[in-house]
Amino acid sequence: MSDESSDGEADVELEARLEEQDAFAPPESFVEQANVTDEGIYDEFEENWPECWEGAAELLSWDEEYETVLEDDDAPFYEWFTGGTLNASYNCLDRHVEEGAKNRAAIKWEGELGETRTYTYGDLLNEVEAFAATLRDLGVEEDDVVTLYLPMIPELPIAMLACARIGAPHAVVFAGFSADALATRMNAAESEYLVTCDGYYRRGDALNHKQKADKGLRSVDHDVQSIVVDRLGDELKHFLGTDARDYHELIEEHEGASVEPVSRDAEDMLFLMYTSGTTGQPKGVKHTTGGYLAYAAWTSHAVLDVKPEDTYWCAADIGWITGHSYIVYGPLALGTTTVMYEGTPDYPEKDRLWEIVEENRVDIFYTAPMAIRAFMKWGKEYPERHDLSSLRLLGTVGEPINPRAWKWYYKHIGNEECPIVDTWWQTETGGMMITTLPGVNTMKPGSAGPPLPGIDARIVDAEGEPVDAGSAGYLTVQNPWPGMLRTLYNNDDRFLSEYWKEYSDEDADEWVYFPEDGAKLDDDGYVTVLGRVDDVINVSGHRLGTMEIESAIVGVDGVAEAAVVGGDHDIKGEAVYAYVILEDGQEPTDEMRDRIVAGVEDSIGPIARPEQVVFTPELPKTRSGKIMRRLLEDVASGNELGDTSTLRNPEIVDEIDDQVQGD
Ligand code: PRX
Repeated sequence: MSDESSDGEADVELEARLEEQDAFAPPESFVEQANVTDEGIYDEFEENWPECWEGAAELLSWDEEYETVLEDDDAPFYEWFTGGTLNASYNCLDRHVEEGAKNRAAIKWEGELGETRTYTYGDLLNEVEAFAATLRDLGVEEDDVVTLYLPMIPELPIAMLACARIGAPHAVVFAGFSADALATRMNAAESEYLVTCDGYYRRGDALNHKQKADKGLRSVDHDVQSIVVDRLGDELKHFLGTDARDYHELIEEHEGASVEPVSRDAEDMLFLMYTSGTTGQPKGVKHTTGGYLAYAAWTSHAVLDVKPEDTYWCAADIGWITGHSYIVYGPLALGTTTVMYEGTPDYPEKDRLWEIVEENRVDIFYTAPMAIRAFMKWGKEYPERHDLSSLRLLGTVGEPINPRAWKWYYKHIGNEECPIVDTWWQTETGGMMITTLPGVNTMKPGSAGPPLPGIDARIVDAEGEPVDAGSAGYLTVQNPWPGMLRTLYNNDDRFLSEYWKEYSDEDADEWVYFPEDGAKLDDDGYVTVLGRVDDVINVSGHRLGTMEIESAIVGVDGVAEAAVVGGDHDIKGEAVYAYVILEDGQEPTDEMRDRIVAGVEDSIGPIARPEQVVFTPELPKTRSGKIMRRLLEDVASGNELGDTSTLRNPEIVDEIDDQVQGD
């Protein structure tokens, strides 16, 4: 450790040095042991594309070797590793056990109340097989979509791997989502099976999750069979009813079952993940068995530097893509020990995460900028209470990280000895796309880095022409990659219109993927991601569609119209601001405000709760009747207001602004 905590002057000096420094070479000690150290990898991938991705496929065990690396006949419906067959659960479990890792810890779980559970690869395989046998008995067949509505308990990855074992795609719904959100997703996926639980802990309180699941099920259009994990025991009594069975009883019944992993085609669906888009309807992103798993494993190896002997911790929730790729599939495919934490970072104390790092001797830690901003606010004394010297690499994902937060993380968590990877990617990309390789590239706080080898990401202007260095534009990806989404479930048209229509030249069969993010091209080719350019906002690293929130608000009795935008927020990054017009005769009371907030929570979940509900008689509109969202965003962020001269009703902007700033 440096001596800054005992010496105030040194502390100031160090801060000043860090403040000025805008490039950081990878620490020597890290490079010496890194999985990837040769900068030639960029040229190698470019010269040998797409065959370069065979290296990713080689990280997996295949039942049948693939015949073609990339099939682009029907672009942009690309296919990867066609002709190959494999099973994801075999790759994450059996092969490690066969190679002698039966007693290595696969999952180390930390419960919120301090309880722990460790599953070795042998244990995990046994329980996955028992649950796979259970699902089969219940009637689940290959290609049936199983919905998993579970919090961060080990039964969630167990259920995912059991589904993968029998070739049933899973659709995980984040436990914080509401009953309505669950029903919408189960209806869209026509999913007839649900795995959920009685409840779980949040800041020491027992939350009733089953009540929410039951409420959701009442809005599902078809019959559903459920399995309920008893997480809370006597803390929360629950009743199963006729369509639900108890998880632990079923596991006991099926203990010792042997379930052969089903050989899946590389292009068979591994899972569906619903995410927010511009319209009110969530998008069912389809990921496949071969390409996705190879990409999750390769990026875990090359970017997160995961090795089998590591203890690796991604502090995300498995209900989001980050948890799928980098708590479950990537790390387990590589045979490492992955840590799972049920609770929140500040319960019971603000040093909870650092306690977990110390106790488990965590080597690699991956989190979101919003968490880092909170750590900064709480102060360095919390990490200083713990020995964090086991850490070797740090990562961030989910939103841009500002240089101050980056440097704080680098210094106070990494002790200036751990590289930081700022990884840009999305639910749709399946895995990381833009980031430094930690053993190769110089890091520049605030800039994600160059595109990964083999990824042709370019920043273009509105016409699709590459921008000059130093300029901002739209981020695009100009070649396919193994982890890419294959389509939107049951909606090929939306897949084409959402991601490919903007910059592709269909006649020339040139396909350009548009992730709907803005970015700046730095002089050295690094990419600074600026954020979404569509009507999606990023609250605490969670993606929310403003249309979804608007339709929830308009669904509240007495509301005539609503516009939702994101406004800057110190910790969350962005917060939800709702501008609401009431029907004639309705009063803008606190009760009405509460009903609007409750409406949003019921329809989506507490993550979408508006920071402010602003009642207004009108919304700022252009002469053609379009809502000027940019102005509403400026108001929400407390920015200087832009030009209002093109508005039909410019006076309303000041009125709204006074209200928001006055609150
Ligand atoms: O706007 C980008 C932002 O998060 C969006 C993707 O959200 P989601 O699909 O929920 O996946 C989040 C976890 C992969 C992107 O379109 N984003 C993600 N990572 C970064 C980021 N913005 C800036 N820097 C990042 N490292």
